[in-house]
Amino acid sequence: MSQPEKRLEIPFKITVTRAWSVYLGRGLAGRIGDFVDLKAYSSLVLVTDETTDRLYGEPVAAILAQSGKKVLRFSLPVGEIAKSPESLAEGYTFLMENGVDRSALLVILGGGVPGDAGGYLAASYLRGIDYIQVPTTLLAQVDSAIGGKVGVNFGGKKNMVGSFYQPKTIIADVDFLKSLPPQEMRNGLAEILKYGLAMDKDLFERLEHKKDADFKAAELIPIIERCAALKAKVVMADETERTGARAILNFGHTIGHALEAASNLEGQHGAAVSFGMVVASRISARLGMLSASATPRIEAVLKKFGLPVHAPQVTPGELLANLKFDKKTSGGEPRWVLLAEIGRGVVNCKVPQALVSQVLAEVCR
Ligand SMILES: NC(=O)c1ccc[n+]([C@@H]2O[C@H](COP(=O)([O-])OP(=O)(O)OC[C@H]3O[C@@H](n4cnc5c(N)ncnc54)[C@H](O)[C@@H]3O)[C@@H](O)[C@H]2O)c1
Repeated sequence: MSQPEKRLEIPFKITVTRAWSVYLGRGLAGRIGDFVDLKAYSSLVLVTDETTDRLYGEPVAAILAQSGKKVLRFSLPVGEIAKSPESLAEGYTFLMENGVDRSALLVILGGGVPGDAGGYLAASYLRGIDYIQVPTTLLAQVDSAIGGKVGVNFGGKKNMVGSFYQPKTIIADVDFLKSLPPQEMRNGLAEILKYGLAMDKDLFERLEHKKDADFKAAELIPIIERCAALKAKVVMADETERTGARAILNFGHTIGHALEAASNLEGQHGAAVSFGMVVASRISARLGMLSASATPRIEAVLKKFGLPVHAPQVTPGELLANLKFDKKTSGGEPRWVLLAEIGRGVVNCKVPQALVSQVLAEVCR
């Protein structure tokens, strides 16, 4: 049945507050107890969203129950709405009403939304209880489940309230991806291409040379492994986003977030990041940092995977207005991640607004 899992060891040094490992492979969800000592906890709380609860809640709860521990189930709504103070309050109420104590373990089964909201529930309930991430979307397996950034949205802004709080372990079972809708696969692919463009030329070229846009589990495992290792490397260098090293992961996100804010792109984070990567690549080429031949290559790969390279639904003015509110601005001026070449991003770049406007005029159509 299952292939042997891969264990990506993340060395625990000074900058990471807790040791954690990523387990990656197939059939791992059936063996959660092999990766974390469930018996060491007073109770186990399975945190899902309504979709992952419907698809996998029952079998995963049964696997957890094999430990002999009490298993509780708390399900969040689907989508960004779950990353709200109201959902969080429901979570606290659920945990309190069920007498969950500090020795409990939260098992978060879902994509980045339950991962972020459930992770913050764990970080803040009783000043912090243990949790593990069992990511079920491609995006969560390559990105959001790793790194300990947890939180909720507030005042209409994304991720305004949160913490850096590492999970005990991360169990990425690619079998979950079989039920993932194509749009969610694309959201993950956009993040994978982000790693390739900003950090790993080989990874980008692997995707560039791929003939079709479909992936088998066996093909995905080495790709997820590479991304998880890249993310872990960045997190180790800058766990709490202070030195600026972690900013490399924001490649494509400066304009991406502005696009999400300016248009109704709920659930299409990958599309926004794709568009953002196009803008950042074109700016890099215009500034003479990136060779002019790189941008058509980049855009061809994005298109192959069904990701957009234009945004006809917004105007440059709308995007510029939303750029100002991005919390990654410094002194009111956005800082960009640009490319020196494919596979090498440069953080903290200033870009003249006239150039941003010029590039946006090309791609907002
Ligand atoms: N913490 C971080 O470092 C970090 C990094 C990147 C993104 N994020 C956050 O992650 C969130 C996006 O994550 P996401 O794209 O995983 O969103 P998500 O959790 O909402 O999942 C996307 C959709 O897929 C469904 N789903 C999940 N697993 C499924 C499966 N196996 N089969 C079928 N359907 C499934 C969900 O119910 C949902 O409808 C955003 O809120 C973003 O801010 C966080």
